[in-house]
Amino acid sequence: MKVIPLVNAGVLIDCDISKLTEQDYQDINEIYLDNLLIAFVDQPFETVPFAKLCHKMGGFANWKQMLWKQDGANIGNPQYVDPFTFEGDDNDFPLQRVTGKKTDKGLPTGIFGNGELDWHSNMNGDMDRARGVALQGAWHSEGTHTAFMDTVKAYDDMSDELKERCEGVIGNYEYAPENWAKGVATPQLQMMKGFGLVDHKYTMPLVHEGFNGKKGLYFHYHNNCTFEDKELKKILMEHCFQSKYIYEHEWHPGDVVISDQVLTLHKRVEWDPEVIAKRVLHRITFHYDNMVEDYFDKYTKLKDTDKLEY
Ligand SMILES: [Fe+2]
Repeated sequence: MKVIPLVNAGVLIDCDISKLTEQDYQDINEIYLDNLLIAFVDQPFETVPFAKLCHKMGGFANWKQMLWKQDGANIGNPQYVDPFTFEGDDNDFPLQRVTGKKTDKGLPTGIFGNGELDWHSNMNGDMDRARGVALQGAWHSEGTHTAFMDTVKAYDDMSDELKERCEGVIGNYEYAPENWAKGVATPQLQMMKGFGLVDHKYTMPLVHEGFNGKKGLYFHYHNNCTFEDKELKKILMEHCFQSKYIYEHEWHPGDVVISDQVLTLHKRVEWDPEVIAKRVLHRITFHYDNMVEDYFDKYTKLKDTDKLEY
């Protein structure tokens, strides 16, 4: 396996994900924890190798939303399926989809089917969500893009004075998909927000140390982020979103990009309705329990059992 730095953030691993050995999986896990973002290109457009890659990192978090086969057929009642013991056809392995594509009856076949999807992460609470997100380019993804911002690179580049200013800072947040997923229809938005019955406020330390000891930031600013230090948000927005910390992936069916949801943010680059109405990305969210020892005890607010309940 050859590891090639990507432009501005993350690495590309030159390999065929359908032919990985046990050692390859272990190496990939280490490379991932060190770089937070890995792209795999020129891959066979298959589901099981993609699912295996994620499963070697940790349990699936979004298995209840894996409702679709690769060909777009609905699966019905979702079950947790281990890709290493799965014996069906590759097409039949369950997936979650990001798409605006509708069924013949006009029903959605995926999430975020509309409009702008600005900088966001899957970590919309205090370490109580899946830390890993893997996306796979699927139908009509050719030539569309997702951008990823690496806060470890941004942090590393900060002046000592700014690093000092960030130390010990606690961010106040509120889950606010209406800010970063403006295309989501109101009923779906209300569902995501628990119909106003759930308290979606949370706090997170600004500075986080990755599993390789390098520091970065949790800075999901669209979640109504505030700091006691009133100017800090603006300063960090200007600093972090410089293009030198942003990798833009151009999708081809079969490509996979995995990214850490504490220390990176991502966004949709194009949201032309005609493109989004057809384009499909596959999405697997996963925990880190197969990569990081004592993950459920030490590094997340989730419990071991949650990996099957989340
Ligand atoms: Fe996303």
